[in-house]
Amino acid sequence: MRIERCKRPIEPPPTAPPPEGRTDALLFVLEEMDETYLDAVLEIEQAVFSNPWRLKDFQYALAKEGSYGVVCLAEGRVIGYALGFFVMEEFHLADFAVHPDLQHRGIGRQLLDVLLDVLKRRPVSLVSLEVRGSNRAAIALYRQVGFQTVAIRRGYYSRPREDALVMLKALRGKLSDWLGGTVTPLDQRI
Ligand SMILES: CC(C)(COP(=O)(O)OP(=O)(O)OC[C@H]1O[C@@H](n2cnc3c(N)ncnc32)[C@H](O)[C@@H]1OP(=O)(O)O)[C@@H](O)C(=O)NCCC(=O)NCCS
Repeated sequence: MRIERCKRPIEPPPTAPPPEGRTDALLFVLEEMDETYLDAVLEIEQAVFSNPWRLKDFQYALAKEGSYGVVCLAEGRVIGYALGFFVMEEFHLADFAVHPDLQHRGIGRQLLDVLLDVLKRRPVSLVSLEVRGSNRAAIALYRQVGFQTVAIRRGYYSRPREDALVMLKALRGKLSDWLGGTVTPLDQRI
């Protein structure tokens, strides 16, 4: 099922201008993730994560009540994806990646923007996620779209063992409304 179109073409990387006459701009559409996309999703997953989800992890996740996944398609090819779970009025983003050859071209930002727009049309008040403390690119992107670090889960990740930052973004009201007090973001101290 088609969900959304991207708002603007994805520009070519500034370091590699396309030959004259070509724009190399990609337009993507977002479709709901289902089993038919899993081969392509797995290929990206295995290329970008040190401890990737396996096929059965995706199958289990997709079959789980409240799961919601999207793939980002450009010229019919999967170039990114996001998968998470609705838990009451929260959406927990559990997996998110862009094809390694196409990173740092604004695709992750657009994918996240479109996903957040979709979530705003649902009864979702809060979006949560965990991210490796060393994953500077993802942390920078999450901060850009308004996520704040509210906690650290020590030793949360394996292969390699590493702490996770717990990041939240309020889609309705302020983050402090959902945490029952003033939030002192940890971001400045990390
Ligand atoms: C994290 C990820 C999804 C970002 O996707 P992307 O398409 O490369 O991101 P964008 O090009 O939209 O970049 C958006 C912002 O992220 C940050 N960013 C992206 N790549 C970065 C890099 N290599 N180094 C530092 N910051 C980076 C920047 O703040 C960037 O904004 P800018 O272009 O204005 O500087 C992608 O790097 C990825 O798939 N990584 C591997 C999987 C992963 O870590 N997923 C997240 C798990 S929690």
